[in-house]
Amino acid sequence: MSQLQFDLDHVIDTLASEGWVVIPHALSAAITANLRTACLEVWQQGLFHEAATGRADGQARRAEIRSDSVLWLDQVAALPAVQAYNAAMDDIMQAVNRGLYLGLVELESHFAVYPEGAFYKKHLDRFQDDDARTLTTVFYLNEAWPQQAGGQIRLYLDADCREFIDVEPEAGTLVLFLSDRFWHEVLPARQQRLSVTGWYRRRGGNMPW
Ligand code: OGA
Ligand code: MN
Repeated sequence: MSQLQFDLDHVIDTLASEGWVVIPHALSAAITANLRTACLEVWQQGLFHEAATGRADGQARRAEIRSDSVLWLDQVAALPAVQAYNAAMDDIMQAVNRGLYLGLVELESHFAVYPEGAFYKKHLDRFQDDDARTLTTVFYLNEAWPQQAGGQIRLYLDADCREFIDVEPEAGTLVLFLSDRFWHEVLPARQQRLSVTGWYRRRGGNMPW
């Protein structure tokens, strides 16, 4: 049975027309809470590493661009909370493929912890040398996030970055957007901020040049 708590058809229509969608209470409170507990447990076990930018040879730690720490979910795929999350996200992938013909084949995702003061400056998610990342997913795990705590994702809605929306990283909120189209940033968080960020990938993707 699907764990999704929203109308998938409506989400697909919105993605088709706008290229982005914000879904509050996307998964059940139980799945969300279990995922939060799992994230904190593996964080406390010291399994995270400081995030880098770029990929492969171009990877570098750039603390002036981003200051979060991450743990790829494939490292902790046996955790029941992670399995429940992946199953729900798979349902979304199937629906997106049926509705939008994006040809998505897999989701790669990581837990992210932004310690107090952490941020991620304005960027696009698609790598210069790999265009497989197609649809970005961000799922938040912060119960009762206070507005004064910052940490919103600022999603720019046009190519000139004149128009934007700020979304609070409240537990249960899922944000989806086309990875190559939408600039975005994470405003400085004034308290610890937890999320699962991922990318649905198309097959291939490595550019031939
Ligand atoms: C990212 C990212 C947004 C967020 O990890 O690439 O933009 O709200 N995350 O955590
Ligand atoms: Mn991003």
